[in-house]
Order: sequence, then C-alpha cells, then structure tokens
Amino acid sequence: MPEHIAIDRKDGIQTIRMQRPDKKNAITRQMYAAMADALATGDADPEVRVHVFLGVPGAFSAGNDLQDFLVVATGGAGGEEVWDFMIALASAQKPVISGVDGIAVGIGATLNLHCDLTFATPRTVFRTPFVDLGLVPEAGSSLLLPRLAGHQRAFAMLAMGDGVSAEQAKEAGLIHAVVGEDDLEATVMDAAARLAAKPPQALKIARDLIRGPREAVLARIRAEAGHFRERLGSEEARAALMAFVSRKKG
Ligand code: COA
Repeated sequence: MPEHIAIDRKDGIQTIRMQRPDKKNAITRQMYAAMADALATGDADPEVRVHVFLGVPGAFSAGNDLQDFLVVATGGAGGEEVWDFMIALASAQKPVISGVDGIAVGIGATLNLHCDLTFATPRTVFRTPFVDLGLVPEAGSSLLLPRLAGHQRAFAMLAMGDGVSAEQAKEAGLIHAVVGEDDLEATVMDAAARLAAKPPQALKIARDLIRGPREAVLARIRAEAGHFRERLGSEEARAALMAFVSRKKG
C-alpha cells in the first residue's frame, strides 16, 4: 500500500482515501502516482464498478504539497505525477464519487469538478487560490468551473481566490448534496453501492453521454499545465511558495 493513500476494493466499489492528516492531506508526488494507478487499475478490473475519493475528518485535501512545488520552482526536476493524475482522473471510465469534509483547496477542490457526484459537509470550504500563489488554474477548472457555475462565480473562485461553502457550491451546481459530518461516508458509500448494482454497460454509455466528449477537457488540462509549469518558475510563485513554507505560526 503506498504511503498516505489507502485503497480498498469491495463489493464493486474502489475507495481511494487520502490520509496524511498531519499535513491536512496535502498531496505529494507519490500520492498522485498512487491515485492515478488506482484509477487505471480499477478501470481495468471488471469487478470494480465505481471509484470513490475520500479524505480524513476535517480535511479532504489542502491541495498540492507546496514543498514539492517549491522544489520544482527552484529548479528541481520532476513533478509530472500531478499532470498524469489529472489526465487519469479526466479519463476515468467508471463513475467517480467524492465525499468532502472540511478543507478542499487547490486540486482538493478542482478534483471534484471531475466527479459525477460530490457530497460535502456544511463545514467544507472549496478554495482555489492559484493566482495568490502566482499560479494559474489547473485540472481543467478554467473550462469546467465557468461551464458549471458561470463566468462570475468561476472568476471569483479562480482569480479572486474566494472560498465557497458547501451550501454555495450546491446552489451553484458544483456538488450534489450537503450532508452532516456523521453521515458523510455512509451517504457516499450508499450512492456508490447503488451505482455498483446498476447494469455496468448501460451505466457507462449513460455516463459518457452525460459527460460528453473529453477532448476539450483534456486539451485544457494540457494547456493549463503549460502555463502552470512556466509560472512555477516565476519570481511571483517562488515568493509566494517561500512565504508559505517559511511562515511562522502563532
Ligand atoms: N503543502 C504542504 N504542507 C501543507 C499544505 C500544503 N498544501 N497545507 C497544509 N500543510 C501543512 C502545514 O505546513 C502544517 O505543517 P506543520 O504542522 O509541519 O507546520 C500542517 O499541514 C497543518 O497546516 P496548518 O496551516 O497548520 O493548518 P490550518 O488548519 O491552520 O490551515 C490550510 C489549513 C489548508 C488553510 C493551510 O494549511 C493552507 O493554506 N495551506 C496551503 C493550501 C494551498 O495553498 N494549497 C495549494 C493550492 S494550489
């Protein structure tokens, strides 16, 4: 089992749980690689009917590990795992469900734009502070968010960095339902079990029709990645990343 990612396959449901609670589930390169691998392996396994993403209590994910970003921003090699994960997520062949509690920042927010059903608790806040970090939107969010929620809400989130509560996210059509903390995982697993019991071929065709062609989303993820890589090497990003890793906590 890879570190900080727990994968469970049971009764047609593959659960991918991020569990790095001491870092609020900030996602490392190894975690991205493990999640991309799980999606591909689960898609290839006829026993798996649905993928589920979960975090830990209070933290779905604080986004990309900023220390990892700083390594690349200061000339280090690597960092392709994040893009491979986004492509794997946008290419998933089976339904994807997420259960979000608490912190959902960066990819911890944008991952959900690729889910077919997202449930979130009332204390959840979705936040995408890319520009504040000297970076740009990723995971196809610059295409998917305005499509789902309109230009102004997307701009407020992606350019202004405004947080959005679970209730606001539901109202904007970004998530399916708001569920209390104590009921979140049972509700997610119940939805997953219902999907796992459906005729898989019909479900696949229905999902593909609902989602539409993926080429535009994949092309946008690649275009965003080009800008993101370039910005990661900028003085703006280096300064913001340094400020985070060297901040003093009071
Ligand atoms: N990358 C690396 N480490 C992170 C992290 C991230 N994205 N998010 C949180 N952590 C670490 C903190 O450095 C801290 O580590 P430490 O205890 O060794 O100092 C630990 O997780 C707990 O975080 P803390 O900031 O103390 O928790 P909090 O509840 O006060 O705040 C957040 C939580 C998510 C609001 C805050 O940590 C934050 O803003 N993180 C950065 C989010 C971000 O910008 N992500 C990238 C988007 S592209």
